[in-house]
Amino acid sequence: MLADVARGLARSQKELSPKYFYDRRGSELFEEITRLEEYYQTRTERALLERMMPRRVDLHRPRALVELGAGSARKSRIILDAMVEAGCGRLFVPVDVSGDFLQRTAATLREEYPSLSVAPRTADMTEPLDKPDGLPRPTWFALLGSTIGNFPEADAAELLGGVARAMNPEDRFLMGADLKPGPGKSVDRLERAYDDARGVTAAFNLNVLSVLNRELGADFDPDRFRHRSFYNEEDDRIEMHLVSVAEQEVTIPGLGVTRLEAGESIRTEISCKYDRETVARLFDAAGLEIESWDEDEEGMFALVLGRHRH
Ligand code: TRP
Repeated sequence: MLADVARGLARSQKELSPKYFYDRRGSELFEEITRLEEYYQTRTERALLERMMPRRVDLHRPRALVELGAGSARKSRIILDAMVEAGCGRLFVPVDVSGDFLQRTAATLREEYPSLSVAPRTADMTEPLDKPDGLPRPTWFALLGSTIGNFPEADAAELLGGVARAMNPEDRFLMGADLKPGPGKSVDRLERAYDDARGVTAAFNLNVLSVLNRELGADFDPDRFRHRSFYNEEDDRIEMHLVSVAEQEVTIPGLGVTRLEAGESIRTEISCKYDRETVARLFDAAGLEIESWDEDEEGMFALVLGRHRH
């Protein structure tokens, strides 16, 4: 972690990896984000899952679901319900970087789904996916919530390439993708999803500094940073930053002093936005192809099912 943070802070645009957001408090704040009125992504994706899963699951009859970044697994339940309903579901493997959050989720799921095996794995999806053994065929792999957008394109392709290598030909990959602004989706609507009125997203963003203080003994003063997010039209992505409100020095043991100018920012997250063409390109780089594409009427969000490229 220290080496990773050192690398990020040494760049001309300072940056921190988003994976450090998700300590217990960060995971809880993120759950709160997903319930915000401004954060349309979660409810739009959920509605799409509710509409599409019964049909798609019936067609493919997946026996297992491996979900990367499962969190509280609220959306996984829609897929699991469809799998149980269709009588094909056997196993759920939620994978998440936040270990204790994941264990609590798994315990609840075992009670809710007595007919399913639940085999959680604590893992960082930025590391190569080590494939759980004994996955039944077909298995579905899922990456929901447009989490893919939090990776720069090359890393996203690598991540999906790892999933593709873990897949057998009859397996499928289900991905949620937040869409670019368009006729039914203004830039303003998109930006508000990352800067809500109640300041939950701001608190979530600032929480990463407390994580660095606790884990690395750093002395960031969260009161001397403010949350900023905006849509970068050139790169089709939301960027989130922590802006230093004054010139200041931060000390991280083992790394020394980092200076920040007043107004200088640390980039903490990107969230790339897609259309069918950019998803097709990303899939192609990973050895996958789009089998189906479903989006809501306003063109806010899409659910994509991928398979090995033929
Ligand atoms: N995958 C989510 C997204 O890009 C992650 C996210 C939503 C997020 N809101 C956030 C990450 C706020 C950090 C801060 O939409």
